[in-house]
Amino acid sequence: MTDKTKLLEYYGEYMMSNYAPFPIIMERGDGAKLYDGDGKEYLDFLGGIAVNPLGYNNKDVVRAVSKQAKKLLSCSNYFINEPAVLLARELIRGTHFKRAFFCNSGTEAAEAAIKIVKKYCNQKNSGDCKFVSFTNSFHGRTTGALSATGQDKYKTAFLPLPDWFTFTPFGDADALEKVFKDDGVKALIMECIQGEGGVITPTNEFMSRVGALVKKYKKILIIDEVQTGVGRTGSFFAYSGYGLKPDILITAKGLAGGLPIGAVLASGECADTFKPGDHGCTFGGNPMSAAVALTVTKIIKNKSFLEAVNDKGNHLKKRLFELQQQYDFIKDVRGKGLMVGLELEKSITAKDLNAKFLDKGLILVAAGNNTLRFIPPLIVSKEEIDSMISTVSEVFKNIR
Ligand SMILES: Cc1ncc(COP(=O)(O)O)c(C=O)c1O
Repeated sequence: MTDKTKLLEYYGEYMMSNYAPFPIIMERGDGAKLYDGDGKEYLDFLGGIAVNPLGYNNKDVVRAVSKQAKKLLSCSNYFINEPAVLLARELIRGTHFKRAFFCNSGTEAAEAAIKIVKKYCNQKNSGDCKFVSFTNSFHGRTTGALSATGQDKYKTAFLPLPDWFTFTPFGDADALEKVFKDDGVKALIMECIQGEGGVITPTNEFMSRVGALVKKYKKILIIDEVQTGVGRTGSFFAYSGYGLKPDILITAKGLAGGLPIGAVLASGECADTFKPGDHGCTFGGNPMSAAVALTVTKIIKNKSFLEAVNDKGNHLKKRLFELQQQYDFIKDVRGKGLMVGLELEKSITAKDLNAKFLDKGLILVAAGNNTLRFIPPLIVSKEEIDSMISTVSEVFKNIR
């Protein structure tokens, strides 16, 4: 093992400066816990940023990795591989979607969705092909997905970006309707809960108006479930809880239990838009990620698994509401399933608390508008939730 001080030195010397990691070298994980090189234990309420739904070291995931690694890691898309086809079938089974495309990440899935709409418009010779997105949204870091993102802080250094996107406030259906009246606007891209934006959770009324407006104005609906998907909010996909019927759905993060994957599911004409040569991805749908994703999907789709996510999510929210009674600087508790946010008053900077939690062996990180975001592995236990609450309370006690 390289000495810790040396490794930190190498990090500073050889890695680009786009991240600002804590000086902690993670070595292994077990369940909802991570262990650093010094053997310190951390209870993980970040879950690799909503990535490790079954936790670390899950026996089914490990078995799927090992079984597939012995057979075939990658074989290109010149050939068909069994896990990718079975994964597409498993994701589509019981939904209105028709076909899937696989890539490696959320941003790649967003790019593919944008390209489907672009080609769809071109095929119809429909003139303008503009999109609507919401303020405060996040859809990824590649230039197309970045131009769909409704937060300037991610974009300013990279302007000019494609100008296909108009932004309206998340939660304002009247503003959306105004934009929809423009025939040049062909599609809406939206998250069901804005994750990076600070777990901004829409009302059911707003979501049902979005559904009705998409239908009335015949727009293409792209739902971004990169963060909300794969059981995170207590349904396999969050859109189903809002009665929406997306034309395109993108997902990634937890789908392959910690391995890289992105997926696009499409229905109707959008499912048949791509023809050979239109789009591709060298590692997309590789048998390794697909085999693990198939295992993860089958486990999480289980009714009892999703019921447990809801049950633990309700417990988490209840415990956070109790904290709100205790600490008057907590402005809001919101979210669904195991995607929950706790917003703090502006006088306290949520991200300044990250290091204090880490000191006490808790990984809990701020997102968006001064909000602590709770996105643990979905297998977290109620006891672990209670233990996290005690740690948060200890930190909160010393805030003022
Ligand atoms: C809603 C949403 N879309 C897209 C992305 C981009 O995903 P990735 O980082 O895998 O490219 C993210 C990442 O946080 C996300 O939360």
